[in-house]
Amino acid sequence: MTHPTSSGEDLAYQSGFGNQFASEAREGALPVGRNSPQRAPHGLYAELLSGAAFTAPRHRNLRTWMYRMRPSAAHGRFAPLGGQRGWLTGPFDQAPTPANRLRWDPWPMPDAPTDFIDGVISVAGNGDAHAQAGVAAHVYCANRSMTGRYFVNSDGEMLLVPQAGALLVHTELGRLHVRPGEIAVVPRGMRLRIDLPEGSARGYLCENYGAPFTLPELGPIGSNGLANARDFQAPVAAYETREGPVQLVNKFLGNFWVGEQAGTPLDVVAWHGNLVPYKYDLARFMAIGSISFDHPDPSINTVLTSGTDTPGVANCDFVIFPPRWLVAEDTFRPPWFHRNIMSEFMGLVHGVYDAKAEGFVPGGVSLHNSMLAHGPDAATFEKASAAPLAPHKLGDTLAFMFESRHVFRPTPSALAAPNLQPGYDEVWAGFASQG
Ligand SMILES: [Fe+2]
Repeated sequence: MTHPTSSGEDLAYQSGFGNQFASEAREGALPVGRNSPQRAPHGLYAELLSGAAFTAPRHRNLRTWMYRMRPSAAHGRFAPLGGQRGWLTGPFDQAPTPANRLRWDPWPMPDAPTDFIDGVISVAGNGDAHAQAGVAAHVYCANRSMTGRYFVNSDGEMLLVPQAGALLVHTELGRLHVRPGEIAVVPRGMRLRIDLPEGSARGYLCENYGAPFTLPELGPIGSNGLANARDFQAPVAAYETREGPVQLVNKFLGNFWVGEQAGTPLDVVAWHGNLVPYKYDLARFMAIGSISFDHPDPSINTVLTSGTDTPGVANCDFVIFPPRWLVAEDTFRPPWFHRNIMSEFMGLVHGVYDAKAEGFVPGGVSLHNSMLAHGPDAATFEKASAAPLAPHKLGDTLAFMFESRHVFRPTPSALAAPNLQPGYDEVWAGFASQG
């Protein structure tokens, strides 16, 4: 086996999106010509993980074959995991959803030792894990690596957006080292543990109950950009040999269960398939904007999309607002005033977001739900309306949005959080009546 360095810099990756990858950490461990031979090489156990119905169309069919030291079924009975956690699950009907625009300052880092599982704080969500529709939007604040326990999320795929501190995500298929400015996606049902190479970490988590994230169609944009398939990185096989009882925590329909098994669940020696965890450096996103006037809809910045049965209407789009040049003539360059049917959960990784003068800070959250009017604050409107329209680069900025067809319903704890800004509506006060 191999060991990660403290920084994880020794990790190797395979490039591409949706590829049929293959990787073995031990020579000859991957069967050739068949998926489940009578006896797999080295006596390993062959096991299938399906991420799509067997009969899903070929371009949406996701599955991976694993060759492992123990079958994943070799664990004890799950019992409820004790303790209190801030990680909640749909339908998010515990509190009336305010008809208000909402904004939060960053959540504080915990004082007590807190690993990733215990560090997730649910802010808002929609849909229902049971119905496999909707998303939950969380932040995480953790200061301890997961030790002695592993995690599997049966409720959804996890899109991790680090904001401060890297994550070293050990999965069944290998390891991903993810820094702020990068994202990682782990398929539903894949077992993992998360180390914090820098001792603490804060970021955002989109728990996707719906269709797995995929690249958006490009239409007239053509065959290149926005996020290019080759820039997505899947791990190479890497397995642990840890023996002795370990805990496996299973999030299943919102409840946390724990079972014991005799050794690590990350014992996959070889694998092949297209249901894989992956990472992506957001700096590789090719941003497209106007070179004449006006600016395109923000959907032009879609990195990944989770679709629904209605074409063009997303369960969730992951959209970024990266560093970019603004050159449009006779144009109000920040986002317009708008009311949309889609609902917007926004976060900021670093820098300044161009629609707000202040108040939206790295690690914070803003929530603009369906049909709620929002847009630039008064200070931004005044400044942008009078600014000389020379080419201008937004250099230090990386905001993102989880945009959903379903209204985000804040959790009771988020509505009661001391970091909820009481005066957010005031940013739209002070507009003079014109004309
Ligand atoms: Fe918006």
